[in-house]
Amino acid sequence: MSIKIKLAEKAKDVEKALKNYLVIREPKKLYEAMAHIPLAGGKRLRPVMAQLTCEMVGGNGKRAIPFAAALEVIHNFTLVHDDVMDDDDLRHGVSACHTVYGLPTAILAGDSLFAYAFEMIAESEVEDNIKSELVRHTAYTVRRIAEGQQMDINFEEEETVDPELYLEMIRLKTSILFGSAAYGGALIGGKDNEEANDLRQMAIWVGLGFQIWDDYLDATASAEVLGKPSGSDIRQGKRTLLVIEALSRTKNSERNELIRILDDNSNTDSDVKRAVTIMSDCGALDNCRKQALGYLNGAKNTIARYPESDARTMLEELLEYMVTRGH
Ligand code: IPE
Ligand code: IPE
Ligand code: MG
Ligand code: MG
Ligand code: MG
Repeated sequence: MSIKIKLAEKAKDVEKALKNYLVIREPKKLYEAMAHIPLAGGKRLRPVMAQLTCEMVGGNGKRAIPFAAALEVIHNFTLVHDDVMDDDDLRHGVSACHTVYGLPTAILAGDSLFAYAFEMIAESEVEDNIKSELVRHTAYTVRRIAEGQQMDINFEEEETVDPELYLEMIRLKTSILFGSAAYGGALIGGKDNEEANDLRQMAIWVGLGFQIWDDYLDATASAEVLGKPSGSDIRQGKRTLLVIEALSRTKNSERNELIRILDDNSNTDSDVKRAVTIMSDCGALDNCRKQALGYLNGAKNTIARYPESDARTMLEELLEYMVTRGH
């Protein structure tokens, strides 16, 4: 069975929880806007990571479902707001929330999803000390995501960015939510903070590879496959690792052309294609793919220390999928 199918199978309990929570109440427009993106699709990587981590350490994955579903709701809240910030109009294969419901309602829908996730954690049946740590850690994570998103926006104005700062930005905007999934899963599975932190670090590693790969796919895959716009990072002038690498590998006219395309607000499809060609020809694309795989290996080494189990095997496949998923 392919990991994609296993992932969908494993996410069934979370899907059910999401459907139960995201029912339509009054005012309908708000609740419809809240349900729009989370129920339209998504790979459910974070909740499945929480479940598998819980099981890999010997816990009952079912106990992690409410927390896992809450993280998926947080993730979707960040997507709703991210599409406003990145000016993207397609998500999970459907029109973005603000495109359908308008900006004011999309802001509220994001806010309500964010709040809802905490209700879900508060209502979950885990020991009080674990619950309070899940609440604290999740709130901390959301604040750090905002820091990363702000850095991402700030970098659009820079010519180039130090690769270390780019890595810090993606650690914040993307990796630490995966970190929370593994951390919370391990706590619910009965592990102490130290061991849970070790698994958090594992997820942070793979999260770095995941975001580098997401940037790669943004430049190279189609909107049909992604369910979100392709080439958006180039149009928006994002300083992704692909761009940072390309700017350090090119000189003179090519380098200037790439900067011009990134800083132009009215790029045509052929401008975007040209930017991808520049990034590809100078070896930046290949180099980024290698870097993403390097982070995957860091994560795999951590889970290799756990006893063999079905959960460990599937977690390993999940990690691999996050950094190699296809075109
Ligand atoms: C998208 O994450 C946002 C990033 C951090 C790159 P996913 O690829 O996991 O989003 P889904 O699967 O579409 O929900
Ligand atoms: C998004 O990074 C990170 C968060 C949503 C916090 P991107 O902006 O690259 O995500 P996509 O590509 O729109 O999914
Ligand atoms: Mg973004
Ligand atoms: Mg985006
Ligand atoms: Mg992206």
